[in-house]
Amino acid sequence: MPRATLITNIGELVTNDEQPGRDGGLLGIVRDAAVLIDDGLVTWVGRAADAPAQTADAGVELLDAGGRAVIPGFVDSHTHLVFGGDRAEEFAARMAGNRYEAGGIRSTVAATRAATDDELRARLAGFVAELHAQGTTTFEIKSGYGLSVADEQRLVRLAREVTEEVTFLGAHVVPFEFREDPRFDRDQAAAGDAYVDVVIGEMLAACAPYSRWVDAFCERGAFTAEQSRRVLEAGAAAGLGVRVHGNQLGEGEGVRLAVELGAASVDHCTFLSEADVAALASSDTVATLLPGVEFSTRQPYPDARRLIDAGVTVALASDCNPGSSFTSSMPFCIAVAVRDMGMTPAEALWASTAGGALAMRRGDVGAIRPGLRADLVELDAPSHLHLAYRPGVPLVRRVIVGGVARA
Ligand code: NIG
Ligand code: FE
Repeated sequence: MPRATLITNIGELVTNDEQPGRDGGLLGIVRDAAVLIDDGLVTWVGRAADAPAQTADAGVELLDAGGRAVIPGFVDSHTHLVFGGDRAEEFAARMAGNRYEAGGIRSTVAATRAATDDELRARLAGFVAELHAQGTTTFEIKSGYGLSVADEQRLVRLAREVTEEVTFLGAHVVPFEFREDPRFDRDQAAAGDAYVDVVIGEMLAACAPYSRWVDAFCERGAFTAEQSRRVLEAGAAAGLGVRVHGNQLGEGEGVRLAVELGAASVDHCTFLSEADVAALASSDTVATLLPGVEFSTRQPYPDARRLIDAGVTVALASDCNPGSSFTSSMPFCIAVAVRDMGMTPAEALWASTAGGALAMRRGDVGAIRPGLRADLVELDAPSHLHLAYRPGVPLVRRVIVGGVARA
């Protein structure tokens, strides 16, 4: 792509930039629009008829969107994409009635430890291509399937090769070798404390240089609130931003802890008390909802309507991982969120773009506005409504990341 590109003849441009004269509320829709991209950034947005005259210069490439919709690239703020093997059998058993349990994570840990760097790297490259093809232009990746100092460092190092948004999730579950340690008599809490000592010591030191975030799975069967707090505080002291897995399998202390620690995001939020909702509403912690998880585990969906009505900022993310949600498709998440979680199509699109950017505390992505990175998706549809209206149909026609065509 040349240095400057003008995308013209956009039937519906979703900017996520609410301004007088634009419609769609938060979506800031401009009809019959054009976008000028220069040197990887958006430099002008408006009605095609008002496009700056200099764009007719020979050096500017013209792209005709044919009256279709253009939206900001999706920001997937929650994935676990560095892993070996899969758990298709576990999924099939769940569809036949088994319950989802956090313990399944350990089988992916074994497969991940057995994989070479190059095997994990090749898999990851495939996932990145899959993300781009579905319109995702910014994505976070967590570790958490290594659970030893060397393996966790390997995972954050590999993740860092493909994204800046790397999260250290050494506190995903307590690995086998700690649970089976006879000193702890297989006692979960005691084994957890011994493992947490490793996580906040040697493991954090090895992983922090590759990471931007620290996360902990604060849930029954994983880590207690006190254990999670130790991990998150140690990560913050090492300069990492805080995010939390909480309230996925039942009510618990994850949300409260996340708000108290000023986390950028608390993810899952499936089981919330009134106090949790109120705490989120009076914080700047984003509630990140992960529809793929409830779809793939047959848990009840989180109530996005309740959160939005209470004033909570909501993001949607895929949580792509081999256990609870093996989808990398943000359009799929949007369709489920609209169908089953009480979100309007506009809210779901906003949550998948601007909401994800807030969950990552990123001011340079998630919207189409002069000065922001040029991450745009042209849909094979006249309107963003089709993302939920046509579930399962590949509607992503063109993907531009930082001004460069990716799909
Ligand atoms: O976000 N909740 C914890 N971790 C993942 C599941 C990982 C797995 O089952 O392998 C999640 O759902
Ligand atoms: Fe997760």
